[in-house]
Order: sequence, then structure tokens, then C-alpha cells
Amino acid sequence: MAGMTRTPFIAGNWKMNLDHLQAVAFVQKLHWTLKDAKHEEGSVEVGIFPPFTDIRTVQTLLDADKIPFSLGAQDLSTHESGAYTGEVSGQFLAKLDCGYVIIGHSERRQYHAESDEVVAAKVQAALTNGLVPVICVGETLEEREESGPTAVSVAQLTAALDGVPADADVVVAYEPVWAIGTGQVASPEQAQEVCAALREVVAGTLGADAAARTRVLYGGSVKSGNIASFMREPDIDGALVGGASLVVDEFAAIIRYQKHVGV
Ligand code: 13P
Repeated sequence: MAGMTRTPFIAGNWKMNLDHLQAVAFVQKLHWTLKDAKHEEGSVEVGIFPPFTDIRTVQTLLDADKIPFSLGAQDLSTHESGAYTGEVSGQFLAKLDCGYVIIGHSERRQYHAESDEVVAAKVQAALTNGLVPVICVGETLEEREESGPTAVSVAQLTAALDGVPADADVVVAYEPVWAIGTGQVASPEQAQEVCAALREVVAGTLGADAAARTRVLYGGSVKSGNIASFMREPDIDGALVGGASLVVDEFAAIIRYQKHVGV
């Protein structure tokens, strides 16, 4: 299943950073930087995942300047509409041209007590609204020591894919909790081992075709200096980047790497 042609996906998860004015400056500068470097459109998909309050502004800018970045949200409600104060529904995101939504990030599992059931319901809410869920999974250091490198991620993804049809488009992101924002990056071999196991989960639940087309990303302290080593691995199709996605030159260098190595 490895070695299929899958467009690399470099996704910037801004988390709770950059207000809507900073977002405009960032997206414009990133676009110019990539253009200056003669970045080939289509060689890699660039995804921007800003806070909810930036999405309308970023959408307008991408549209007006014909900037070929994909847009996504960092979360969505399990509900479609109604008395859910503070929640944002998938249908609202779809109307703002969001193509993607991050679901089950470890920070939501940890700080907002999101269970596997909630994650699965959010995956369904995304698909209902035509959004591609970016399903995040990953183990803590204690879990890795207790149950090995793959068990937690495999269980989380299996639960998240419950009831998902075989023709659904999903993206999977392996983000070991111990590597997020710590500078303690997983080795490419460690990441490959789990990403291969996750592709097997997709094969087992959605079938071989889905496994061949589904992009599996690595996330956790990705930088311009280590992206190459991850992209060399057969089951890693891109990166979900946190801190380094907030620095234009650094994020551009991560994106540009793809073209230079011809992945
Ligand atoms: P860092 O790249 O800052 O480690 O964050 C990774 C992440 O959580 C992306 O979703």
C-alpha cells in the first residue's frame, strides 16, 4: 500500500495564535514567499487551520487573491444547530469554504475531555457537511511504555472510523503527545511504524482503496530541519505542524522541501 501517489499535505495548525489581522499578514507573506521561490502549485497541498475568528477573513483573502491554500477549522460541534452556546457547527464551516476540520487533537482530548465517542460523532458531523476530517491520534509517554508504540493510536483511529463509509475522504494525523510542542521529535522510524499501523486500520475498516488514497501525516515538533527525514518514509504523506507553522519563513521552508526532493 505504501508508495501510492498521494499529494503531500503540509498543514499548519495555528492553535490559539494569530488574530484575524495577523492572519491576513501571515497568509499574504506566505503566498509571496512561496511565489518568490517558484513553488510549484499542486506539488504539495498547503493547509491553513486558523482559529474560528480568522476563518472568514482568511477565506476572503484566499478567494480574492486566488491563493491556492486549503482552509480548515481546528474543531467543530457534534450538533448541526441549536442551543449549544459557544459551539460552531460543520455547516457554518462548510459555508466559509472550509474543506477540512481537525478532530480529536490531543489538546482537545486532554483539556476538553473529548472521548473516542465524541471524536467519532465529530467525524460524522464533518462528513455530513462535506468536510474532510483530519483525525488526530497519538499516545502519551506512559501509554507508549505500558502498551507499546501503536496500540493507543490504533484503538483511537478504529473508534473514530466507526460508521464511516468506505468512500469517505479522511486524513489521519499521528501526533505522539510526548512530541507536541516539546522539541522532543519522534524518530522517522518511530513515526513510520505507527503511520503504517494506522494505514492498516484504514485498510481494515474502509478497505484497500481507502488505505491507498488516505493521507497519513506526522505531527510533533516538525521543523524545516527534520521534515525531509519524515517525508522519506513510505507511509508518511505530510505533516501537521504547530509552532513552526506560525513563522512564515520556517513554514515556507517546510512546504518547499517537498518540491525540491520531488516527493
Ligand atoms: P508542534 O509542531 O508545535 O509540536 O505541534 C504539533 C501539533 O500539535 C500540530 O497539531
